[in-house]
Amino acid sequence: MKKKLIGLLMAMTMVVGLVTGCGGGAADEKDEGGSISSSVKVETSDDSSAGGDIEVGIVLPTKDEPRWLQDQKQFETILGDAGFTYQVLFSQGSSATEKTNVETLISKGIKVLIICAQDGAAAAAAVEEARDAGVKVIAYDRLITGTDAVDYYVTFDSFAVGAAQGQYLIDNAPEGTDVPLYLYAGAATDNNAFIFFEGAWSVLQPKIADGTYKIANSTEAEALKDKAELSREEIGKIIGQVTTNWDFNEAKSKAEAHLTAAGSDVKGNVLVLAPNDGTSRSIADVFAADKDIASYVITGQDSEQASVQYIIDGKQSMTVFKDTRTLAADSVAMAVDILEGKEPATDSSYNNEKIDVPAKQTAIVVVTKDNVKAALVDSGYYEASAFTGLE
Ligand code: BGC
Repeated sequence: MKKKLIGLLMAMTMVVGLVTGCGGGAADEKDEGGSISSSVKVETSDDSSAGGDIEVGIVLPTKDEPRWLQDQKQFETILGDAGFTYQVLFSQGSSATEKTNVETLISKGIKVLIICAQDGAAAAAAVEEARDAGVKVIAYDRLITGTDAVDYYVTFDSFAVGAAQGQYLIDNAPEGTDVPLYLYAGAATDNNAFIFFEGAWSVLQPKIADGTYKIANSTEAEALKDKAELSREEIGKIIGQVTTNWDFNEAKSKAEAHLTAAGSDVKGNVLVLAPNDGTSRSIADVFAADKDIASYVITGQDSEQASVQYIIDGKQSMTVFKDTRTLAADSVAMAVDILEGKEPATDSSYNNEKIDVPAKQTAIVVVTKDNVKAALVDSGYYEASAFTGLE
């Protein structure tokens, strides 16, 4: 009963906080293991209810990629302003740590878990524990697969991300035929990596099939070039060959190996499908250093600050802006509905190999040198002073 009241109270404060952008200040403290723990004391008339329990738990994959620090920042702003009690924990690339994080949060009494899985299949066990403890689970950005213990999913339109990357390459490709195309992908443990690739393939495949582009670094993709639609297994084979594992170093060493093995027929003016910003910067550096690469067009996603600077400097061609403010706000709005006993609004669903998970999807924006200021600075996402050479 008391809990319900607190939930309602926080939900109301939350809505006010979202509208006015003001509220109580969050106190950051270092947890064991280095996780940031942000707690806000809930203002209620009953002191014994405040401070102890945590209502919303957030688990993010790693601090080593700026993308997830953006999400952390948005959660801290939105939840902190709202007067929620919450905690953000990072899994640092380990499913075991992720499971421990979930267990820690369950033991702190969370009612809602917002989790971006390190490994979509491995996370099933952790969220099943949460479900068994009566916690509602919101998969954040990455779908958790093979379990019915996922209640909701908030995501960007990942197919559109891949399609935008592919379309950018087409729109900016050098003239002629047999233009070398280097393909890279995300981690096979991340459902999104399949969707990004599927989206890119949907637009690139006709131009690979008709000989406009020549795949430079994947015999698996080459063998499938006449198939407009690939099965998950087929995409898996390509990813197995060109995965970056979302790892900058792996991206770099793969790109180096590919360029070392490449003949002159796949050098010159080339296209590079890079799955995200971190891997794009690594791959771009390798291509820029190769004297036989005359020019390259390279994709990315996330609008990480370092990649925005790369775009301004002409070292990365594009990125996809996935506004983490919206994704975090959507998942918090869902949490509010859950805490109020209401059914959160959804607009789509994603099959996770077990159930259709009700989802809320957010649109994406393509960012190039031409609109970087309007999309990322004028929108308040970054300060202009974060960059040099911004026009
Ligand atoms: C996210 C991307 C991110 C990648 C690597 C994906 O699941 O959607 O935004 O770049 O993981 O962390």
